[in-house]
Amino acid sequence: MLDALSGIVDLDRAAAASLYRQLYEQMRAAILSGQLPAGTRVPASRSMAAQLGVARNTVLAALEQLVAEGFLETRQGAGTVVSGQLHGDIMRAVRPEPEQEPQEYRLSKAASHIAAVGRGTVGGENPRAFMPGIPDLRSFPREIWARLLRRASREMDAEAAAYGDTSGLPQLRVALSAHLREVRGVQAEPEQIVVTSSAQGALDLLARALLDPDDTVWVEDPGYLGARAAFSGVGASLIPVPVDQDGLNPRGDYPRPRLIYVTPSHQYPTGILMPLARRLELLECAARHGAYVIEDDYDSEFQFQGRPVAALQGMDRSGRVLYVGTFSKILQPGIRVGYAVVPLPLAEPLARMQRNTGHIASAVVQLALAKFIEEGHLRAHVRRMCALYEERQDTLVSALDKNFSNFVSVNRPAGGMQLIAELPPEVDDVEIVMELGRKDIVARAVSQLTFGPQERRGLLMGYAGYSGETIGSKVATCRGIIDA
Ligand SMILES: Cc1ncc(COP(=O)(O)O)c(C=O)c1O
Repeated sequence: MLDALSGIVDLDRAAAASLYRQLYEQMRAAILSGQLPAGTRVPASRSMAAQLGVARNTVLAALEQLVAEGFLETRQGAGTVVSGQLHGDIMRAVRPEPEQEPQEYRLSKAASHIAAVGRGTVGGENPRAFMPGIPDLRSFPREIWARLLRRASREMDAEAAAYGDTSGLPQLRVALSAHLREVRGVQAEPEQIVVTSSAQGALDLLARALLDPDDTVWVEDPGYLGARAAFSGVGASLIPVPVDQDGLNPRGDYPRPRLIYVTPSHQYPTGILMPLARRLELLECAARHGAYVIEDDYDSEFQFQGRPVAALQGMDRSGRVLYVGTFSKILQPGIRVGYAVVPLPLAEPLARMQRNTGHIASAVVQLALAKFIEEGHLRAHVRRMCALYEERQDTLVSALDKNFSNFVSVNRPAGGMQLIAELPPEVDDVEIVMELGRKDIVARAVSQLTFGPQERRGLLMGYAGYSGETIGSKVATCRGIIDA
C-alpha cells in the first residue's frame, strides 16, 4: 500500500519548509494532478511515518490538514482515502481540457472606462527626468517622519487601532482644517473633511457620490487624465471645455453640467493660475446651472513668488465647491493620503461610502501626518521645496532656451512642479516622446492630454524631482530629437 506514495513523496530535510508542510504539499499536488486518484487508500500513519523516517505526529498533522481541506476523507472500515466526490470537481476546476480556450475575463463597462485611461506604467517605475508630478524624494525629511511614525504607533488609541472614524482620524482633520484655512483660505471645519488614500481616491469618491450615468461633467481641455477616469468610470458624459490664458473658459454653448472639474491654482498641465475675474465667472456659471465644482488643488502650495492665491472654495458662499487635496506632491506619493472638503450634509454619506468601499488611509500614517503638521514640519518642508523647485524650474527653462530656442516656447508657470515646452503644431509630440523614451528620458505628450478640438503640441516636463545637473545633461541629450 505504501507504493501508493512512492514517486510522490520525497522529503528534503535540508529545505526551509517543515517536513509536515512538505508532506502536505506533495500529497495535495499529487491529488490535484490525478497521480493519487479518487478512492486511493492512504497508508496508515504509523507505517507511513516509519517508511518516510519521520515522526508519526508529522504524518498525522499533514493528513489532518488534507482531511480538513476535503482532499482526503476517512471512511468507516476503509481508513483514509482520497476524496471521491470532490475529486471530480477538483479535476474539472483545476485541469481544463487541453483544447479548451483560455478563460476570457470580461471587464464591466465601468472598469473598461477606468482602465482605458493610460497614465504611466502600472507596475511602477523609478522616477526619472522629466517624469511630471514627482516631488524631490531625497528632500523628504525621513528622520523626522520615522520618529513621528514610531510615536504614532505607540500613541495610537484603541479607536484608531480598530476601525476608527471612516472620515479620517480626528487629529488629522483638526490639523488639516487649521492648515488649509491658513495656507489656502479654505473654509473647512474638521467635520467637513473626508480623508482618502489620495486625491485620485477623493475624485473617485466624489464621482460616485454625485454623478449618475449620463450626467454631464465639464473637464478642462487639456486636462488631468485621472479626473477623466474617475468621471467616465461612473458613466458620466464628459465635455472638454477649452483652457485659455485664464484657465477653463466657461463661456460657450455646452450642455448643462452637473459638475465642473477645475485645477484653478496651477491648471494641469498648463500651470495657468486662474485670475479672480475668471474665478467669479466660473462660480457664477456653476450657480446658474446648479452644478457642483470640484477644485483639485493638488500642488498649489508651490507658489514661487508671494503667497499662493487663495482657493476657490473659500470664495464660495453657496456650498457648491468641493475641494480636493493630497500629500502626494507636498510630501511624496507613497504617503497615500489625500482628502476632500465637502459641505457638512455630504460629509456623513461620504464617510459611510468610505466604510463600504474601503479606500481608507492607514491610521498610523494619519496620526504621524497630524503631528507633522502640528509641529510645523509641513510648512518648513513646503518653504524649502518652493525655493528648490523655483531654482530647478529656472534651470530647465534656461536649458531649453539654450538648446531649443528656435523650436520650443515655454510659458513659465508661477509655481508647481512641471512646465510645458510648447512645440509647433505640425510636430508629432507623441513621436518625440517615444524617441526620448529610447534615451531613457520621460516626458508626456500634450496632445495626449487634449481631447477636444484643440491642436496643442508640446512636452509636459517635470523638474521638481531632478537635480540641476540631471536637468542640464538630460536636456542636452534631447538634442537631435526635439529639434529633428
Ligand atoms: C491634477 C492632479 N490631480 C491629482 C493628482 C493625483 O494626486 P494623488 O497622487 O493624490 O492621487 C495629480 C497627480 O499627478 C494631478 O496632477
